[in-house]
Amino acid sequence: MSKTIFVSNRLPVTVQKKGDELIVSKSIGGLATGLKSFHEQANNLWIGWPGLSSDKASLDEQKEIKNQLTKNYNCHPVFLSQKDIDLYYEGFSNRTIWPLFHYFAEKTEHDIKTWQSYQKVNQFFYKNIKPYLEDDTVIWIHDYQLMLLPQLIRNEFPKVKIGFFLHIPFPSYELFRLLIWKTEILEGLLGADLIGFHTYDYVRHFMSSIRRILNLTHQFYRIQYNHRTISVDAFPMGIDYEFFANQKSSKAKKPKEKIILSVDRLDYTKGIVERLKAFQTFLKRYPKYRTKVKLHLIVAPSRANLETYDTLHRQIEKLVSEINGKYGTFDWMPIWYLYQSFDQEDLISYYKQADILLVTPLRDGMNLIAKEYIASSSDYKGMLIISETAGAASELSEAIIVNPNDAENIALGIKEALEMDQEDMISRNKIMHERLKRYNVEFWAKEFLSRLNAVEHQVISKDDD
Ligand code: G6P
Repeated sequence: MSKTIFVSNRLPVTVQKKGDELIVSKSIGGLATGLKSFHEQANNLWIGWPGLSSDKASLDEQKEIKNQLTKNYNCHPVFLSQKDIDLYYEGFSNRTIWPLFHYFAEKTEHDIKTWQSYQKVNQFFYKNIKPYLEDDTVIWIHDYQLMLLPQLIRNEFPKVKIGFFLHIPFPSYELFRLLIWKTEILEGLLGADLIGFHTYDYVRHFMSSIRRILNLTHQFYRIQYNHRTISVDAFPMGIDYEFFANQKSSKAKKPKEKIILSVDRLDYTKGIVERLKAFQTFLKRYPKYRTKVKLHLIVAPSRANLETYDTLHRQIEKLVSEINGKYGTFDWMPIWYLYQSFDQEDLISYYKQADILLVTPLRDGMNLIAKEYIASSSDYKGMLIISETAGAASELSEAIIVNPNDAENIALGIKEALEMDQEDMISRNKIMHERLKRYNVEFWAKEFLSRLNAVEHQVISKDDD
């Protein structure tokens, strides 16, 4: 295989400046954690934003960051200015695409300035990538922040093999059509040779938009466009199974209450408020479980400058304190709430302690936390409750599947998980373990990359059409 370049908005490492000191830490989020192991193992280059505004780092410091990241992490940093961060990242990426693709039409903003910045920053990424490109380079672009990049590369490098993977849902045509710049986004994506999604539903939605918006025909999952063939397929992302499965059990004493764990980035798509309300319904409906069960709610700070995230943060804190105030006693609190990021090792010890993992996003491209939880329980105990609107649910049908809007349904799901027969639980988990072991992150990346490597550019002449 030729050398592969990964490109994503966020690098797997984040650089912060504390005084004059540069601090490098791991990035959070599904993409960074999921691909990390593959990147390290295969020694491939990763190009992306290190999370720091270039306005805050002098040219010398930027040079120093570049040296450190290239040497120690195989990463090439793309420096975004504060204006780019405001308009391209917080603006078009997270105020337009993110809400729309997660079915939050009412939160979707249409602002020409942010769209212009999105175009400009995609061009800027192209400029950063260009020096590394040769005809036989294989380039794998990730996620919704860089949907114009495939075509920008294709315009100047017709022979380069370009893959694109979307880590969030691709919405139904009825949602996607609302976007003013839908044609440009689709044309940007079609610069790729291979376009991947987590599930077949997202593939279908994408194909439907291609047909209706661009008027293109396709055979199965192959599109003919600009005298090229583009393949589209589902590649459900896996986890580094062995890493999670082989962690030693923590020595921490098992608490006397049953633990329901909830772990997310702070995001309105994750259904955290609805989940808290469902937990409250559970305490109300099944009073015998009060003092016997507690919810460990971990929320990792994310996108803190966006107002919706800040409002959500306050909403969660209010609800947690209402529920604790109402149902708590002097020696029992229903909810333990932590607004912090944890590293993977700590998370695994929380996974291992938890009797239930409650994952109820309103929409989620995949949700790797659900997979990590199952893989971490080496005794096959512990039950996953997951909403049907998470991509991962289609691969984890042995878990308890709920509707994230239905508090009664989730409350019943919790009761069912708490009362599940041990043998039943173990056999369900064993089936899921087998699946996660086989379809791990390495399988995912290898499958995508071998499909991409096998692409042959047959330039169809105009007369052949
Ligand atoms: C999701 C997205 C990623 C993103 C991550 C963290 O997993 O699919 O592209 O990196 O969230 O969000 P952030 O905005 O902090 O990069």
